[in-house]
Amino acid sequence: QPARGVELVEEESGAPGEEQRRWEEARLGAAALRFGAKDAAPSEPKYQLVLEEEETIEFVRATRLQGDEEPSAPPPSSGDQQKESIRAVRRSLPVFPFRNDLLDAIANHQVLIIEGETGSGKTTQIPQYLFEEGYTQKGMKIACTQPRRVAAMSVAARVAREMGVKLGNEVGYSIRFEDCTSERTVLRYMTDGMLLREFLSEPDLGSYSVVMVDEAHERTLHTDILFGLIKDVARFRPELKVLVASATLDTARFSAFFDDAPVFRIPGRRFPVDIFYTKAPEADYLEACVVSVLQIHVTQPPGDILVFLTGQEEIEAACEMLQDRCRRLGSKIRELLVLPIYANLPSDMQARIFQPTPPGARKVVVATNIAETSLTIEGIIYVLDPGFCKQKSYNPRTGMESLTVTPCSKASANQRAGRAGRVAAGKCFRLYTAWAYQHELEETTVPEIQRTSLGNVVLLLKSLGIHDLMHFDFLDPPPYETLLLALEQLYALGALNHLGELTTPGRKMAELPVDPMLSKMILASEKYGCSEEILTVAAMLSVNNSIFYRPKDKVVHADNARVNFFLPGGDHLVLLNVYTQWVESGYSSQWCYENFVQLRSLRRARDVREQLEGLLERVEVGLSSCQGDYTRVRKAITAGYFYHTARLTRSGYRTVKQQQTVFIHPNSSLFEEQPRWLLYHELVLTTKEFMRQVLEIESGWLLEVAPHYYKARELEDPNAKKMPKKVGKTREELG
Ligand code: CDP
Ligand code: MG
Repeated sequence: QPARGVELVEEESGAPGEEQRRWEEARLGAAALRFGAKDAAPSEPKYQLVLEEEETIEFVRATRLQGDEEPSAPPPSSGDQQKESIRAVRRSLPVFPFRNDLLDAIANHQVLIIEGETGSGKTTQIPQYLFEEGYTQKGMKIACTQPRRVAAMSVAARVAREMGVKLGNEVGYSIRFEDCTSERTVLRYMTDGMLLREFLSEPDLGSYSVVMVDEAHERTLHTDILFGLIKDVARFRPELKVLVASATLDTARFSAFFDDAPVFRIPGRRFPVDIFYTKAPEADYLEACVVSVLQIHVTQPPGDILVFLTGQEEIEAACEMLQDRCRRLGSKIRELLVLPIYANLPSDMQARIFQPTPPGARKVVVATNIAETSLTIEGIIYVLDPGFCKQKSYNPRTGMESLTVTPCSKASANQRAGRAGRVAAGKCFRLYTAWAYQHELEETTVPEIQRTSLGNVVLLLKSLGIHDLMHFDFLDPPPYETLLLALEQLYALGALNHLGELTTPGRKMAELPVDPMLSKMILASEKYGCSEEILTVAAMLSVNNSIFYRPKDKVVHADNARVNFFLPGGDHLVLLNVYTQWVESGYSSQWCYENFVQLRSLRRARDVREQLEGLLERVEVGLSSCQGDYTRVRKAITAGYFYHTARLTRSGYRTVKQQQTVFIHPNSSLFEEQPRWLLYHELVLTTKEFMRQVLEIESGWLLEVAPHYYKARELEDPNAKKMPKKVGKTREELG
């Protein structure tokens, strides 16, 4: 059966090359015919890229993203580029002509805002210029923050290569649970969260001569908090240089925040991008994506494709579908290299997206919005944008955080389109209508600080001695309710006392680079004598839902393998079981393969576990094992997650405090069992509000681990007695 939307004519004779050529000519001819179809107005050409009428996706051209250069220059072929020396490449970047002006501006101003189109060389070049200029003499370091781990790693690798040093020597990166730096490291690329943690050990950032807050327009929670802290440090460290780099036009805001710091603009260099929209909304955007990629591949001139999807699962599914269809089409189409890129992708796989496309082939990079501004991939001519991203949202009233697939903002959509015009005139195909763009997309993305829980950050600020959070210097303040709830939760976890001051356990919790609830769980493992097991659970939870592997053609086997790991008690114990068996197999990759478990997720869990184990001493938790008494493990988990509880009522699961309707995720080991009381690791809103990683508990444990939070009467069995009308008066109780 041919793949949807691509109908191929069998060619009987001719050499493969010849066949290929003739076939392509036929395709291009077909596309050209449709392009000039009668009903398409000349100003608004229709793009019907595929060959089989009823199953094509029709795009209509509506706008053009203006470039500043005429598309006269042919795209540099990857072969040529490889031959160019690194020096030449560096000199070719838009930032290069401004090198000296930029260094002058930095010398003359303490804070400088730098604005420049993505790919102009801000991230890779500016720290090198500073290095060359001597900013790293006398043991001083330069920090450059990135909102994303992948960006920090890949950029550091690139810069190390450009400087001809080994990654981890002069140039390194530091991300949570992974430190690739050494004594010699003077250029440190790090996630914004890591620089935030640096304040704990070095509150004045005394060993840094320059701090560059990069990708500032992303407005991640950590970047926003950094702004406030760095502004403060800069006041009493006049020699510290602060650079705020941004891809887009929010620079006026940054400038105003930093007492009207000057803005240095690096002129853009971009080719025009034609933007096409679908005529009607697409019901299944993943399917539509796959069809469109093949459409572009068979009908469009050379040039690589960049597809924006929302997350790992989706990306893996899309890649699998694409590879599957390409395999079925076989030699009838030119080679299509399908490459995923997302946060948890191992670095060797990440490196592949930067390798030049072999002649005659086409590359399709399927990415999260990491490729929007953080990473620049050479050779992209086509962008396919379904218009979604995964976004956190937070309801301070219920304290529920959820990660949902939502329409991206217009600003994002335009950034995405811009990626098509870096090397030549490009095309951006949007899998939504022009009307939707105009009327349904928000102008910009709401800063993360306004749609996330703040427990983590509040704990950190408290440990930095910042007590008056209401008056902290926020670029955009978080909702008052969110801040209050964070304080309440930290109080309930015992991290703050009734005066809002950090307690001894609170100080320990801040030492661990994980969420307060997870820290609390780890601290509680001391009491329940099961820190070995809890470390494993914590590590497995932090590799995030990518433990099991479920290939399309072996679904039954994979599901059986997963069920074989089930233990009574719930998903946390299943995770523990998987990890323990892997350890017993001698960390065997064969074992992973046979049991449909992702080796790289387990390897990462092993790294995380080692890191956490190394921190145990600092928080005064000894190593101990429960020797199979899993009740102790479950109690320790409950001690951290008593906030995330639900009970079964006649109308399904309701969260204990807020009475929200929630559902067990179908992948959970408890999906069939439906225990009366449970706790969940996280809520994910897809079609419903799903609880992911669910553990069966006893209501009595809640009184044991959090007597200040739960009252016996709210834990009465709803079937035995009528539900009390009013529950959850913590706020009043806290007074
Ligand atoms: O930060 P900005 O977006 O201004 O640019 P950059 O990340 O410094 O990228 C400058 C150049 O380095 C681009 O041409 C990228 O393609 C290249 N680069 C790369 O080849 N590999 C990386 N990991 C990062 C950048
Ligand atoms: Mg950059």
